[in-house]
Amino acid sequence: MTPVLELRDVAAAYGPFRALFGVSLTVGPGEAVALVGANGAGKTTVARVATGLVAPTSGAVVVDGVDLTGKRTYEFARAGVAHAPEGRSVFATLTVDENLTLSFRRLRGRKGVPGGLDLAYEMFPVLGRRRQQTAGTLSGGEQRMLSMARVLVESPKILVADELSLGLAPIIVDEVYASLERLRQQGTSLLIVEQQVAHALDLCDRVVLLDHGAVSWTGASAEATDRVITQVFDPAT
Ligand SMILES: Nc1ncnc2c1ncn2[C@@H]1O[C@H](COP(=O)(O)OP(=O)(O)OP(=O)(O)O)[C@@H](O)[C@H]1O
Ligand SMILES: [Mg+2]
Repeated sequence: MTPVLELRDVAAAYGPFRALFGVSLTVGPGEAVALVGANGAGKTTVARVATGLVAPTSGAVVVDGVDLTGKRTYEFARAGVAHAPEGRSVFATLTVDENLTLSFRRLRGRKGVPGGLDLAYEMFPVLGRRRQQTAGTLSGGEQRMLSMARVLVESPKILVADELSLGLAPIIVDEVYASLERLRQQGTSLLIVEQQVAHALDLCDRVVLLDHGAVSWTGASAEATDRVITQVFDPAT
């Protein structure tokens, strides 16, 4: 089966600094893969390469069998790659409804707005209860859901999510993960970067461990031994 996302022997650099060395990984249709590793290992860089934000210096990025190496972010988006943005990329002074309406009008045209809103509120009932509230006054987790709703309604082939749980209370993290699970059930593949490894392992089928810009281990989540987890937090061991 053609992988939804494939990185082939990817190297990447920021100016003279080389961040990735021959990284290869695949995410299959409907598969959820957790990308773990110590701080600075290169997880965010992999997420950027996978969404077209950073072009590899060598190697290839293939989406659904199509080589998108060197293409722009919007071409990745058009091919079905969604990037759950870090932080809270919402318009603070607009309501939840207005935020979503703006995105959907741009993505699906005026006629697509009502359907998009219905879907977003079905996906995130919390937002439905707060549709007239200004986005700036939503809680951190609710803002994260609002920015997720804006990309997810397009039912992407794959969602690349970087540190979705960062700074969120445990109960909100649970809600965010519940929505990822629902998304998965709808057939979207996931590539999840997560510091809270336990959460990521629960959700994902497979783990890719990065170490100093290279893949050092990959295997089923169930086989991700304590040693792998320990290495994430203490690479010296
Ligand atoms: N814009 C940049 N310019 C220069 N170096 C960068 C840039 N972004 C990242 N790096 C470097 O590339 C390496 C990998 O960074 P990356 O952000 O991919 O790590 P990470 O695994 O996501 O870490 P963390 O868990 O701390 O988020 C780090 O050494 C980092 O300092
Ligand atoms: Mg990072």
